[in-house]
Amino acid sequence: MRQVFPFNDWYYKDSFSNDDLKNESFKDFKKVTIPHTNKEIPFNYFDEKETMFISCYRKKIIFKPEWKDRRIFIKFYGVSSVADVYLNGKHLGCHKGAYTAFEYELTGYLHKDKDNIITVKVDSTERNDVPPFGHLIDYLCYGGIYRDVELIVSDDIYIRDMHLTPLDVLKENKKLAVKLYLDSLQAVKNAQVNILFNKENRSFIADVKKGKNTVEFELDDLKADLWSIDNPVLYEVEVELNGNIIKDKTGFRTVKFLPDGFYLNEEKIKLCGLNRHQSYPYVGYAMPKRAQEKDAEILNDLGINIVRTSHYPQSRYFLNRCDELGLLVFEEIPGWQYIGDEKWKKLALKNVEDMINEGYNHPSIILWGVRINESDNDFDFYEETNRIAHELDKTRPTGGVKYMEKADFQEDVYVMNEFELGKRERKHIDQNMATGLDHDVPFLISEFVGAWHPTKRYDTSAVRADQALRHAYGHDESMLDDRLCGAIAWCAFDYNTHYQFGPGDRVCYHGIFDMFRIPKKYATAVYESQLDPHVKPVLEPAIVWSNGDIDECGFLPMYIFSNCDYVEFYFGDKMGRRLYPYKRLFAGLKHAPMYLDRVDREVYNRWDWLDASFVGYVDGKEVIRKKYAKDPMPKKLRITPDDLKLCARKKEEAYDVTRVVFEALDQYGNVLDYMFDWIEIKVEGGELIGPDKTNLQGGCLAAWVKADKKGVIKISARTAKLKSDTVKIKVE
Ligand code: GAL
Repeated sequence: MRQVFPFNDWYYKDSFSNDDLKNESFKDFKKVTIPHTNKEIPFNYFDEKETMFISCYRKKIIFKPEWKDRRIFIKFYGVSSVADVYLNGKHLGCHKGAYTAFEYELTGYLHKDKDNIITVKVDSTERNDVPPFGHLIDYLCYGGIYRDVELIVSDDIYIRDMHLTPLDVLKENKKLAVKLYLDSLQAVKNAQVNILFNKENRSFIADVKKGKNTVEFELDDLKADLWSIDNPVLYEVEVELNGNIIKDKTGFRTVKFLPDGFYLNEEKIKLCGLNRHQSYPYVGYAMPKRAQEKDAEILNDLGINIVRTSHYPQSRYFLNRCDELGLLVFEEIPGWQYIGDEKWKKLALKNVEDMINEGYNHPSIILWGVRINESDNDFDFYEETNRIAHELDKTRPTGGVKYMEKADFQEDVYVMNEFELGKRERKHIDQNMATGLDHDVPFLISEFVGAWHPTKRYDTSAVRADQALRHAYGHDESMLDDRLCGAIAWCAFDYNTHYQFGPGDRVCYHGIFDMFRIPKKYATAVYESQLDPHVKPVLEPAIVWSNGDIDECGFLPMYIFSNCDYVEFYFGDKMGRRLYPYKRLFAGLKHAPMYLDRVDREVYNRWDWLDASFVGYVDGKEVIRKKYAKDPMPKKLRITPDDLKLCARKKEEAYDVTRVVFEALDQYGNVLDYMFDWIEIKVEGGELIGPDKTNLQGGCLAAWVKADKKGVIKISARTAKLKSDTVKIKVE
């Protein structure tokens, strides 16, 4: 039997000395649960070196009688960024790199008659020998054992991994190749294999060799629905080999990048997406399953169809959720503009291998990024990354993000960051200029906006509207260009970075959400307004309703991001204008933004400032209405948890979390965009991540709350002017 147990209760010390290997005491260690960050940091204005140190994690393992004659492995899903693992002082191995999983066999070194101590020395400094480090990078990698740990108990034939390859995907009768990666203590002839697919069992016989080896099977005659963006059907495959069971899910779909666009299951789809960094306030990378899944949900709810995991492989929970939601993924190896020496490159090649092995079964992944983001040409190195990728995965193309024109084109897809896209001048992207080739190739844009227009959630509405417009212009241009597979904007969420980037406060404000995943409303509305209005009507005037937030007073010109057929604008109770989608300016977008640049004098008089209303109509019916106060005042502190139920933590399990959003609202329920009052958050029955006394940022803030024991978590908050209700979250 192959059994997998969570293994997340550890002891931690924020220092390490070689004596920690000789003296295996727990003195000075404190109890922690994985995911864990080596050091919690403030929201901004911290020294990025604060998390760059060597720390030590330690744990006792008591040998269980039922482990007699069994093999024991420990698996780490992510440690930032170099882990040396010791069992009872014996060095089991060193893993370099924060973003890929690794495992060690413990069997031979476990004491049966006394405690075993497992010690992990975690080096979270930016070591020159490990990608992405060696030079400056525009993000922080934090530190600690930040993804789950598992203990795996197996018999002699250990199933390390399984690759599922759907074949004949577009035929009525499909096939599935199943490849098992084994590590066996002995050769076994005629081992019995049962494969359960869609409730149907097939039996096979396999010869297992001694040591590391693989066995392969092909299931044919399968009836299965296609996996697609709108109907992401997954199939579970359960394989049993001599009593050892391994399970995973897969989906049947084809992927093609051609010079005239991207095709999923032979259907042409324009890729429209965002880049995602996996960082969160205070705890960096250390967020468990539910938060990772939530990010995929937030992005999917916007209606985008692709996310790039910039600039490294991301959590399996995030990827699993992308599979379930039908959100496509472009995954890439760790790195940023810099290529190191031969040893460094070797690690980068290993990253290609690990990324593909770990991501292999995810139907959402459609492209492997096998270049270091925005690096210079290095022909031999990239021949090798491409070779490895193609050898490991015959079903997916390679790409690699370039920033200079006419870079070596060694991948299947020419992927490029093009920050000219989205600028007001509406520069047309000429792919032949970019590639330097005289013929068209599959061409994808992987970044635009970003540093070309940093935007805080509480910037003036003109700055925020400009951010939104750049996203709108960029995707509009992409939609109109038949030779472009699509465009992925920079980026989804604000992220921590070094002082050399952003405004120096260690946050890069390039997201269309802030770090708390609170929307910068106008930019997020650009995406949401492309949704079907019958599913979700969207109406977002890109203005703070006031006489003095933008240059030259007043509120004009104003863009409105909406999917309505038309919108009526009222100044007080007089109708100012009926607005229609501005199709001439946005011919490519399904729902063009609306534009208002003048209002009749009889309606609007600057010094007689009144409330405003916007009413959206679809099929002749009112579907959405927004009202803005002439004199906004704080009236309510709204508190909204993402979840009302969480899971109680059992021993060794990772903890559950949910995010809670706090918003200061005016008399009409609109966020007070420029409120920065202090806020005090009270959490009973759970644990607040981050400070309990802090400040609203532009009328809002969010916090993540950890669940532990069964019961009820009560959360409330107050500011100088407002007091929230108490929300209750059940922990079951
Ligand atoms: C790109 C880079 C991203 C981010 C972005 C900001 O050049 O790939 O990581 O720094 O710029 O615009």
